[in-house]
Amino acid sequence: MVVRRITTHKIQQMKRRGEPIPMVTAYDYTAARIVDASGIPMVLVGDSMGHVVLGFDSTIPVTVDDIVRASAAVVRGTTRPLVVADMPFLSYQIDTETALRNAARLIQEGGAQAVKLEGGKTVAPIVRRLADAGLAVMGHIGLTPQHVNQLGGYRVQGKTESAANQVMEDALSLQDAGAFAIVLELIPVELARRITEKLEIPTIGIGAGVHCDGQVQVFHDMLGLDPDFRPRHSGSYAELAPIIKNALVRYREDVSDRTFPTEAQSFYSDETRVSEFSPVEINDPAVSGD
Ligand code: KIV
Repeated sequence: MVVRRITTHKIQQMKRRGEPIPMVTAYDYTAARIVDASGIPMVLVGDSMGHVVLGFDSTIPVTVDDIVRASAAVVRGTTRPLVVADMPFLSYQIDTETALRNAARLIQEGGAQAVKLEGGKTVAPIVRRLADAGLAVMGHIGLTPQHVNQLGGYRVQGKTESAANQVMEDALSLQDAGAFAIVLELIPVELARRITEKLEIPTIGIGAGVHCDGQVQVFHDMLGLDPDFRPRHSGSYAELAPIIKNALVRYREDVSDRTFPTEAQSFYSDETRVSEFSPVEINDPAVSGD
């Protein structure tokens, strides 16, 4: 039986039916297989990989090649979820031809079903061009981490009335341009609620409260893979860093005191057993190769 991936239409239908839409990031095959098994319907190959996989202090150094490679791995690791690939910094703003070429790489080489890009009104013409070319596009407004140098940090956006109106305008212009859904990052709960009620397309929140149509979180944040960093909005679904660290410490100790590997992890050929346990044969030039 062929199992089909979840489509953008299905995601939009979930909004109409009032079914919340869970989404999580993944950047590699092994994590993607676990996400697949969880039943989460949408996966983001986010440029947050710049932080959690590559160790940069922003998403700005992430390249199209990075996302293409990661998307292909996530697609190989999943059967069911819709895979959305992030368009990295300056991969879509230079001109529409560049945007189309880079989006095409994420879809054709990366195998993603949709692309996501950051920005509101100003990127709406690019969203329209991509949508006209047949691509499924997800918007991303509120805190847009690729603008961190302009925004002066990772801060809640849309807190004043005029800033909130601007975020609302951005949401409407992305919908008009043909986006199939929009990420709302780090905006006040009431604003996210108003946008969600106003839009026909789904809103996917991150630090935007419970009224969004869906929620997205960064895999490493929600699973506690970094003992020194957990954003307040990610919740605490697991504390994996100490579990993994303890396993590695035990392994180091076992190797050091030679309690690993044991017989259970060892392999012998008949010949090895003979040569290992028979000093006479080891000295025999026919066995030692002298
Ligand atoms: O890159 C990413 O993980 C994202 C989410 C924070 C929405 O864009």
